[in-house]
Amino acid sequence: MAPTSDDSAVAAVRLARIGGDGIGPEVVDAAVRVVNELCGDRIEWVEAEMGWRTFERTGRALPEATVEIVESCAGALFGAVSSPSHAVDGYKSPIVELRRHLDLYANLRPLKSGAIDAVVVRENTEGLYAGRERWERDGEVAIAERVISRRATERIARFACELAVSRASERGSPARLTVVHKANVLRLSDGLFREAALDVAAGFPEIEVEEQLVDSMVYRLILEPERYDVIVAPNLYGDILSDAGAALVGGLGVVGSANCGERFCLAEPVHGSASDIAGQGTANPIAAVAAATLLLERVGLGDAAPRVEEALAAHLAAGPRTPDRGDNATTEEAVADLLARV
Ligand code: NAI
Ligand code: MG
Repeated sequence: MAPTSDDSAVAAVRLARIGGDGIGPEVVDAAVRVVNELCGDRIEWVEAEMGWRTFERTGRALPEATVEIVESCAGALFGAVSSPSHAVDGYKSPIVELRRHLDLYANLRPLKSGAIDAVVVRENTEGLYAGRERWERDGEVAIAERVISRRATERIARFACELAVSRASERGSPARLTVVHKANVLRLSDGLFREAALDVAAGFPEIEVEEQLVDSMVYRLILEPERYDVIVAPNLYGDILSDAGAALVGGLGVVGSANCGERFCLAEPVHGSASDIAGQGTANPIAAVAAATLLLERVGLGDAAPRVEEALAAHLAAGPRTPDRGDNATTEEAVADLLARV
């Protein structure tokens, strides 16, 4: 027998594929096909489920079996889940739960288009999203506490610095880091974020470091997006900057993101489950494919990522466009074009 099949089985990286709800399974399937075309022999995909349909069927949005599968994997490609906009007994957003369970503390949102080549690194575990809200004065006043810790700030800053250094060595240009805060007003919390992040960055003398107040940051990102490289920010600021940035580089249908921890990466398109177009075969697969390239980079298959990125860029420029991009191509036609280009 040919020894090669055994070799590839040994070398395979185990990755979960979690379609979720709505168009999630359609775009994840599309992205898996594109990735498999390049390096399918080095990946063992394991299917796992979570989301609203799973909840309706089993009473759990995030089944124990899914947690066990992801814990056995190096990463996951996730589509989207539908969450009801009203409270439902027993339902919790499974993606929020999974991010917390796996301690995926860094949310990465690359912004790439033309001269723009930046990445927002958002602290994903605390800040204003720490979940510390309460009522005062009989419900007349709502209070949200904002948590900034030195440990979480140092961790996200180190992640951002290491990313800046590796991007710079790939591009052969200097590494730049922008630390975003509002320490002039939030002197303690943002003051700590600023100080801890700048301290960590000082340990990377090859990085040009600047700091910027979040309000002027949004303004400048929109006016001169091409001047930025790695942008690191506390949770809420990073969330807002990520979405503002997505609008600069083509919108929801084309932007991917990754949630990273020490040992695990969960990549996902930025868009949701788009139930208005689910099952019609017209979902744009680009965002899921972009997410898949981030996953490849973080699970040791980074050598394949540039080929996918090039195919994506060529597809964006000259490939068939799905309805969200103004034409009437189907998901299948877009995938066929991507497959031909990788
Ligand atoms: P959405 O991103 O699902 O859709 C917004 C609009 O963009 C819709 O008109 C949709 O058709 C369009 N769109 C999104 N992705 C597209 C794609 N790949 N191709 C073509 N068109 C696309 O956001 P929406 O409508 O606010 O939320 C729908 C559901 O998704 C909700 O249940 C929400 O909770 C969930 N959601 C889940 C997320 C996640 O799982 N990470 C993130 C955001 C929303
Ligand atoms: Mg968001």
